[in-house]
Amino acid sequence: MSEKATGGDFVVFDHVQKSYDGETLVVKDLNLSIGKGEFLTMLGPSGSGKTTCLMMLAGFETATHGDILLDGSPINNISPHKRGIGMVFQNYALFPHMTIAENLSFPLEVRKMGKSDREAKVKRALDMVQMGSFGGRRPAQLSGGQQQRVALARALVFEPDLVLMDEPLGALDKQLREHMQFEIKHIADDLGITVVYVTHDQTEALTMSDRVAVFEDGRIQQLAPPDELYEKPCNSFVAQFIGENNTLQGEVKEITNGLAVVKLDDGSLIDAMPVNVDKAGERTQLSIRPERVEFNMERLNPGAHTLQAEVLEFIYMGDIFRTRLRVAGNDSFIVKTRNAPDQVRLEPGQTVEIGWQAEDCRALDA
Ligand SMILES: Nc1ncnc2c1ncn2[C@@H]1O[C@H](COP(=O)(O)OP(=O)(O)O)[C@@H](O)[C@H]1O
Ligand SMILES: [Mg+2]
Repeated sequence: MSEKATGGDFVVFDHVQKSYDGETLVVKDLNLSIGKGEFLTMLGPSGSGKTTCLMMLAGFETATHGDILLDGSPINNISPHKRGIGMVFQNYALFPHMTIAENLSFPLEVRKMGKSDREAKVKRALDMVQMGSFGGRRPAQLSGGQQQRVALARALVFEPDLVLMDEPLGALDKQLREHMQFEIKHIADDLGITVVYVTHDQTEALTMSDRVAVFEDGRIQQLAPPDELYEKPCNSFVAQFIGENNTLQGEVKEITNGLAVVKLDDGSLIDAMPVNVDKAGERTQLSIRPERVEFNMERLNPGAHTLQAEVLEFIYMGDIFRTRLRVAGNDSFIVKTRNAPDQVRLEPGQTVEIGWQAEDCRALDA
């Protein structure tokens, strides 16, 4: 694997802890290495410590314990403006009394760059975010999306190696947000900059990132590329937080040859991949993605699991059908099927057979 995929050590959090009040730790022993050119997203619910981590890296907060290294050197004692880090936040924080071009020129003046160099760099940065013709306007004369583009250009204009973004698209509507996700990702890739991105939006994290660190309560629960996070969540929290997930409660009966036999609360026996359960008698929560469940048993390999289910709702969603079922006492078991010409439409009240491959069913902590 490339250095990019495995991390590397351009940014390193080494046993970092943070407490604001001297009692509770809001960041608990954070260890994270970010590779040069990597797009790393910190994803997690509100209050899980993401912004605090970014602020420590930026230099606006200090770690209570541990070290933060940038390109091999500790930065604990380097002031924020000397770290050479670009930053973008949700509230764009452009200077209202300056034109767009002056806003972008400002970080270059601070760095004592000459006028003609400044003009060239400002033009290049504005062109990059397709705002080349807006240099003479003031922020108030731009829409929210345009202001956010300018904020992005301002973070990039001095060509930093590292850019930090904290929920930069949170204030934009869905369509513009999705567009900007691709735009930011492409610009970051083209320039080869390292990005540490904070969001609570899992779709955004999956779309943009090389790797995602899932935060909960000041700890990283899982650090993995998007596909691995979705396909192989390491615990129930990550399985629930990333994507849609069906759960079934039960008890581990035995684990043999890398397969767990789980007795559901309604008595049915299910094979599953043991992830973070390891002994008989343990309570477990099975996790199955909605698109891994089949109605057509012929599509499954021999030995796959089948169960009886009752259809509660069948919803046409254009590209897919979304069926809500009652399965082993769970009334919110969702199955997504592609809208194909041969897909039978189901009726509420109908009893159907459903099935999945054992490897698509994961036995996690209860
Ligand atoms: N400046 C501060 N002073 C005291 N507590 C803070 C401060 N900033 C954040 N916190 C607390 O630290 C925890 C983590 O917050 P934060 O890092 O902002 O999380 P996130 O960005 O994931 O929502 C929360 O409990 C929050 O209330
Ligand atoms: Mg935050």
